[in-house]
Amino acid sequence: MSTATLEKPAAAAATDTILSLNNIEVIYDHVILVLKGVSLTVPRKGIVAILGANGAGKTTTLKAISNLLKAERGEVTKGSIVFDGERVDKMSPSELVRRGCIQVMEGRHCFGHLSIEENLLTGAFTRRDGNAAIKRDLEKIYELFPRLKQRRNSQAGYTSGGEQQMCAIGRAMMSKPKMILLDEPSMGLAPQIVEEIFEIVRRLNDKEDVSFLVAEQNTNMALRYATYGYIMETGRVVMDGEAKMLRENEDVKEFYLGVAEGNKKSFREVKSYKRRKRWLS
Ligand SMILES: Nc1ncnc2c1ncn2[C@@H]1O[C@H](COP(=O)(O)OP(=O)(O)OP(=O)(O)O)[C@@H](O)[C@H]1O
Ligand SMILES: [Mg+2]
Repeated sequence: MSTATLEKPAAAAATDTILSLNNIEVIYDHVILVLKGVSLTVPRKGIVAILGANGAGKTTTLKAISNLLKAERGEVTKGSIVFDGERVDKMSPSELVRRGCIQVMEGRHCFGHLSIEENLLTGAFTRRDGNAAIKRDLEKIYELFPRLKQRRNSQAGYTSGGEQQMCAIGRAMMSKPKMILLDEPSMGLAPQIVEEIFEIVRRLNDKEDVSFLVAEQNTNMALRYATYGYIMETGRVVMDGEAKMLRENEDVKEFYLGVAEGNKKSFREVKSYKRRKRWLS
């Protein structure tokens, strides 16, 4: 067999993965160990969910990727992060944005005193392709988010939570990303609006080929839109699999989808309890 044929599958595999985290450890304030060896991958043009309860480490994982930990006195102390074929552990957030990876923070963070349109335009700050291209993309964002077009001149601080979430995603889109790290998009929104936001995620994924890594406490909704999910607990991935498998998994249903009753202490406890039961029977 020639070398050329041997190299082909490896190269194909590399381009099919847009993001991979390999055994990441994060420490805050030099002493607080929060991520204890997290590994995950996102296929190119995929939608992957990170699930888990309060404090599981979802936001920390996203910030480790986008390099926003420094501002919080956090640091990746072990492992490696590869985005689009390149090690990015030491890159600044804006370098990462330029390479096509951007985070939409938990709580949206729109500039309340600026209009929706001004907010969207701030998303283009890393671009070097001129005003005409930016203007064209702004129109494209308005096609994707008709609601933002209606509200383009409104002060963002006075728009609804759903509109602010759309604005935050639209602003990220203005950087022409290959991948968006989306933190808790459902937070504080009514179920119907959450669905609207996830439909937008699906559309951006489908029509604009943007890959997504979405951190969510809303397991049910996230697993309807993601193809693959990772469940985190106390800084570790405790389970991962195809979304369909996770949706049907009894332990996931019991602990995260609120299907079964009873005192639910921890996902890991539910799992080991079940394992013991199976072993006994
Ligand atoms: N700046 C910080 N300094 C110290 N500890 C922190 C800091 N930020 C987060 N933590 C701790 O790290 C752990 C993980 O927090 P993280 O925000 O990543 O969880 P999360 O899964 O996003 O939770 P939530 O669903 O509530 O957003 C928590 O125990 C939290 O208290
Ligand atoms: Mg969080």
